[in-house]
Amino acid sequence: MDVANAKLILEDQEIDLPIVIGSEGEKAVDISKLRAQTGHITLDSGYGNTGSCSSGITFIDGEKGILRYRGYPIEELAESCKFLDVAHLLIYGQLPKGAEKDAWVDGITRRTLIHEEMKKFFEGYPPHAHPMAILASMFTSLSTFYPDGDDTDLDIVRLIAKAPTIAAFSYKKSVGQPFVYPRNDLGYAANFLNMTFRKPTEDYVVPESVRSALNLLLILHADHEQNCSTSTVRMVGSSQANLFASMAAGVSALWGPLHGGANQKVIEMLQRIEADGGDYKKYTEMAKDRNSDFRLMGFGHRVYKNFDPRARILKKAADHVLRDLGVDDPLLDIAKNLEEIALADEYFVERKLYPNVDFYSGILYRAMGIPTEMFTVMFALGRLPGWIAQWKEMRDDPKGRIYRPRQVYVGATERHIG
Ligand code: SDX
Repeated sequence: MDVANAKLILEDQEIDLPIVIGSEGEKAVDISKLRAQTGHITLDSGYGNTGSCSSGITFIDGEKGILRYRGYPIEELAESCKFLDVAHLLIYGQLPKGAEKDAWVDGITRRTLIHEEMKKFFEGYPPHAHPMAILASMFTSLSTFYPDGDDTDLDIVRLIAKAPTIAAFSYKKSVGQPFVYPRNDLGYAANFLNMTFRKPTEDYVVPESVRSALNLLLILHADHEQNCSTSTVRMVGSSQANLFASMAAGVSALWGPLHGGANQKVIEMLQRIEADGGDYKKYTEMAKDRNSDFRLMGFGHRVYKNFDPRARILKKAADHVLRDLGVDDPLLDIAKNLEEIALADEYFVERKLYPNVDFYSGILYRAMGIPTEMFTVMFALGRLPGWIAQWKEMRDDPKGRIYRPRQVYVGATERHIG
């Protein structure tokens, strides 16, 4: 990274601050010595202007709607890769080939079972426990079965292998059906679908269009640089907490409706509009009304101030997969009408609000038969390799330090009891 200097004039001081320039020309003012040199810190609520790290994993250009994993455009990866190849690319820096690919895929395939003792945890949950609560606690609980943490690569394989099994078991728990075990003769996406939809009373063949749609969805969700849940994973991992606990923290952050929980909220919003006679114009107006807490879920993004390339790919895929499956979902038409009217409306245009990854993903999950409560779990299954890659990059940094932001104190000044 080349450096130049910025000048900061503060009261009677003038200091030079190095400028850091990334490989895509992004510029940053390095303030790591600011407090020591000036006694000042910066304040940036929501971190909209603050870089927490340098990273070589994912590049986003929000103005141009560009998303690349390790330099590869998301469109190419979505078109021609399998999810486990993309997971390897994110974590280890290259698409696996030959023996490396075989070892990676085989290692994951052979570790999809969870310890039989873990099945007892599911019995303790109430029937309709939200699967994100189960996923977060099961991720942490994996650290009780693999406590050493002395083989990070093996723990990474274990986690990627067992996540779909935990997710599928949480679905089976919610519908009161017996767990279906993973199979070594199925690929990653097909295995999850088989564990989720196979019933002990009948045969089940994974529909190819559903398998490929799931593979696409997992790839599109795989990483997204320093979003809320990834920053959480880095924060927790920076204290040297183990991989499983750090990923559980990512699951919890992703659950929020402003983040990964939005895909569930989008469908609930579309269902509300449908139940209200499909009057999408009324809801667009409500979303613009500052006195209403209604937001167009699946719209807007902190970084993308142009289209989200993932939403573009998913919109196309939704048409394709629903046609393949013979599904005619009125919610898709409502979503398209909402997008059309919003993109022509000054309120959304002025604020550069476009559909994000969550706007169309739920339509696909619905068509695939995945229940709404599982949507954010699906997001987590996709994001897992991205969280792992970012956690590993942070932990492999020899100059890495615990994340510990400062604050500006605005509370009571000193006072005494008495
Ligand atoms: C994800 O960061 C990532 O990379 C996340 C993610 C990933 O892959 O990890 O891409 C995944 O989380 C996508 C986002 C999913 N969330 C939603 O769809 C929820 C709805 N969207 C918003 O809540 C909002 O747009 C956020 C949370 C996504 C972004 O919030 P910001 O950047 O803090 O923007 P903001 O709230 O400051 O909004 C700026 C303006 C405000 O209006 P004014 O105060 O200027 O008048 O835009 C308005 C907001 O009221 N606005 C919306 C809106 N989103 C923003 N108005 C109506 N509907 C919306 N959806």
